[in-house]
Amino acid sequence: MRRKVTVVGAGNVGANTAQKIAAKELADVVLVDVVEGVPQGKGLDMLESAPVEGYDVSIIGTNGYAETAGSDIVVITAGFPRKPGMSRDDLLLANYEVVKSATEQAAKHSPDAILVLVTNPLDAMCWTALKVSGFPRERVIGMAGVLDTARFRTFIAQELNVSFENVTAMVLGGHGDTMVPLVRFTNVSGIPLTELTDAATIERMVQRTRDGGAEIVKYLKTGSAYYAPAASTVEMVESILKDKKKVLPCAVRLEGEYGIQGLFVGVPVKLGKQGAEKIYEVKLDAAEQAALKKSAAAVQELVSVLEQKAQ
Ligand code: APR
Repeated sequence: MRRKVTVVGAGNVGANTAQKIAAKELADVVLVDVVEGVPQGKGLDMLESAPVEGYDVSIIGTNGYAETAGSDIVVITAGFPRKPGMSRDDLLLANYEVVKSATEQAAKHSPDAILVLVTNPLDAMCWTALKVSGFPRERVIGMAGVLDTARFRTFIAQELNVSFENVTAMVLGGHGDTMVPLVRFTNVSGIPLTELTDAATIERMVQRTRDGGAEIVKYLKTGSAYYAPAASTVEMVESILKDKKKVLPCAVRLEGEYGIQGLFVGVPVKLGKQGAEKIYEVKLDAAEQAALKKSAAAVQELVSVLEQKAQ
């Protein structure tokens, strides 16, 4: 049976995500946006590359949600991207309204869907989607760790002049300046990173990973990254649709794991057809634990603002 994925937000991240899902023939795609004509035009343009690229899926663009009914996955990228000098948190209140309305509509038409959140500030938007949808926590998952890890892996592979594929890394915590790249769990084909380069080089790469989003914003000036975010989202979508059970760093609502209660924080998660099927609790040392707590506190600050607004 054909699977169906809705992508809300037909901007840079959404359109690239939709195109990659189609190119991999993962599912039929419905692209939704508030701007009249944009999802329709981009959807048709993607469809017209099907004969050339050789994929057989349907892609439609719409301004409503009727066509999204019965989606297996709804990816939410709708919102405003960062401008230079803006933090992800500056987007909080504007994107809260966008994600709230997108989630309400999407959940109404696809009550069994798995929601994959991409809109920033990510961890707070996941909190919003969980609250508004009333879905169980297994079905509300945020994309951040795959992207942050991909950035860390890129810098390591470049530095050591090895294949990108050989680098395994782990980045936990919130998707912001307090994210926690875990050097102890990072290796090249099983060889610990710490045996391959010195502490100062590692620290430089860790910092560049933390600033990875801002580095792109600074170049683009009018928006934020979208190729790697879309690729990271599609890796999650594929693992869910194909029930691959990949273990990936994702934002999920913690209920006591890592000593954190009721917040979305990036941790290693098994992604399969049920969504976030298992949360792995790795043993952290004192410094790592402290960094994760600090990151969770930053997420809590944003959620507190939203809690006040929601009252
Ligand atoms: N419903 C549907 N689409 C909406 C809504 C809404 N309520 N509000 C805005 N949009 C659409 C915009 O019309 C636009 O087409 O969301 C799209 C956002 O696209 P871009 O501005 O290109 O932003 P993008 O780079 O795709 O980033 C989207 O992902 O990575 C995050 O920080 C980023 O929060 C941002 C989001």
